[in-house]
Amino acid sequence: LTSNILATPSRNIKTELKRTRKSCMIFYGSQTGTAEKLASIFAKEALFRFGVEGLVADLDNFDYDDLLSLSEENVLVFLLATYGEGDPTDNSISFDRYCANLRSKTDLQAHNLHYASFGLGNSSYQFYNEMIKRVDSTLSGAGAHRIGSAGLGDDADGSLEDDFLTWKDETLPQLANHLGFTEQERAPIVNLVISETKSSSSIPLFLGEPNAAHRKGKLRGPWTNSNPLPARISESREVFQNSPRKCLHVAFDISDSTMTYETGDHLGVSPENSNREVERFLRIFGLFEKKDSIFNIGSEDPTVKLPLPAYTTYDAATRYYLDICAPISRYILGSLVSYCSDEVTKAELLRLSKDNVAFEKEVKNLCLNLAQFLEGFGSSTLWNSVPISLLFEMIGKLQPRYYSISSSSLQSRKCISITAVVETQKNDEWSHEFKGVATNYLLAQHFQIRGPNALEPTHLLSGPRFRNTAMSSLIHVRRSKFRLPKMNSVPIIMIGPGTGIAPFRAFVQERAWQNSAHPAGRTILFYGCRRRNEDFLYEEEWRQLETSFKPGTFSMHVAFSRQDPTKKVYVQHLLNQQAEELRELILRQNACVYVCGDAQRMAKDVFTAMAQIIGEDNAFDGDSQAYLKTLKKNKRWLEDVW
Ligand code: 2AM
Repeated sequence: LTSNILATPSRNIKTELKRTRKSCMIFYGSQTGTAEKLASIFAKEALFRFGVEGLVADLDNFDYDDLLSLSEENVLVFLLATYGEGDPTDNSISFDRYCANLRSKTDLQAHNLHYASFGLGNSSYQFYNEMIKRVDSTLSGAGAHRIGSAGLGDDADGSLEDDFLTWKDETLPQLANHLGFTEQERAPIVNLVISETKSSSSIPLFLGEPNAAHRKGKLRGPWTNSNPLPARISESREVFQNSPRKCLHVAFDISDSTMTYETGDHLGVSPENSNREVERFLRIFGLFEKKDSIFNIGSEDPTVKLPLPAYTTYDAATRYYLDICAPISRYILGSLVSYCSDEVTKAELLRLSKDNVAFEKEVKNLCLNLAQFLEGFGSSTLWNSVPISLLFEMIGKLQPRYYSISSSSLQSRKCISITAVVETQKNDEWSHEFKGVATNYLLAQHFQIRGPNALEPTHLLSGPRFRNTAMSSLIHVRRSKFRLPKMNSVPIIMIGPGTGIAPFRAFVQERAWQNSAHPAGRTILFYGCRRRNEDFLYEEEWRQLETSFKPGTFSMHVAFSRQDPTKKVYVQHLLNQQAEELRELILRQNACVYVCGDAQRMAKDVFTAMAQIIGEDNAFDGDSQAYLKTLKKNKRWLEDVW
């Protein structure tokens, strides 16, 4: 059996299921790792509740030639995220193409294929869960049978994981039933083992380096999420004044590297967890005293994906690799219950893990991470018997955070800047503070650059990851579709309150830069902030930039939402004041419209306001919302929203 399983993995679905002796394949289409995590939750529960052997699989590792000829004894599960404007994630692009091909060939049939589907999406976006909807309708259109309902997870209200748990509880029994399995009483399976070892120079040790090349000091592009560039921070300054909130303008020097970017791209920053949270986590689970011990996490089953790089320390694993600051999940809570050594606490946790409404109110709304939450129950020894391998398996991987780049690649080719508000939330009733991981990481670096005396001890950054470099961050560029028109003469209208201004700083710089050779067309910017003397970003720069344009070409309209306590002014209100010109530019001069910033409310409000403005045009006859949607399709209305 073992030698069979160890044979080379196949790109053929049937062969791979046979080789690994599984009956169900759980495909994930993941950009940030969430779908992958849900896939392993699904596989684990299928096994321990029903004895169904499932294989968690990256869609990109397969050809789908045999998909239509799969027999009834196999089930495929699709957990697919939708990305951007209804797009597939990077690892599901080829599967999306396969589905398009399938749709075009009506003679292809899949009457034996059984599948289950769940999508990861965000209803704030226009193309909500498009990817899974496409896959589901393609497969059912080809005669395949879906098991359970077509699950749609919605991240907009933060309930994606709950949507998944509900869908899973409904679908798993049906899937098991189809394969001929019934539910059985079994304890959760811990199929990973931790072995501690003594330090040895021959062991490759993970101490925060993203991959082996980094570990060996052999840095080489291309620069990606798994191979980020350690870039020196060449500038870091606070850009709010007189405000308890902090906003940083951070510039990264890429001059010694092959990294390139284009105006409108996003910058991924790979953060590390703060000392305070690493220590809290290690203490809760009884690992603090041995935080520097070297261990490896392994499994007898070679098809199981390991949650950590081979050989690391507890400190490095929690500091650089695991997302220990993620909001606590109901699934993890439920899995830890049976290991709690106190009956009263146990009952309380059981209640919260079963009751979604109570969980939301008493846990989720408090923005607590796992260790902060468990700390609330007192005694530090409550959690000493939790199998650490199970814990590490359940916690997701620390992911890079993405920021809209605020520099122009034409003007600043070797230096990339971002503009980020440092996320901190404190509620009067809370005993804790919620701190965004990456922006506080950037703040810690800011303090360190500005002088060690200003550094808050809880923020202290650790050393090993950057043994060879001065103050650096690990970064990579993510290409976007948020692009200026090819010709500088095309009029543009930009709407970006708050840090939504970031890419527009780059846009305006670029239009100004090109202006002498290629005169810029009308360039209008709508910006919103709270108060002029507080959070008006780059106020001086706009004045400077304006002088590079021909008079009357560039104008900026600023909405101050809290300047006058009796009246909120938002960007969409200012659109109304410029309605006449906006109609002219959009309807008759082919202007491009750009919206950047908050997706939940702002982008929708702006869309509605603009639709109203267009609808009031004397010559316009028709549905103005439909008209704006066509603009979106034709890439004349572009959004970079989050
Ligand atoms: P507020 O915080 O005073 O409500 C950046 O966040 C700016 O966007 C702030 O001035 C904020 O105002 C404003 N803002 C909040 N909600 C908005 C919305 N729905 N549309 C446009 N601007 C909004």
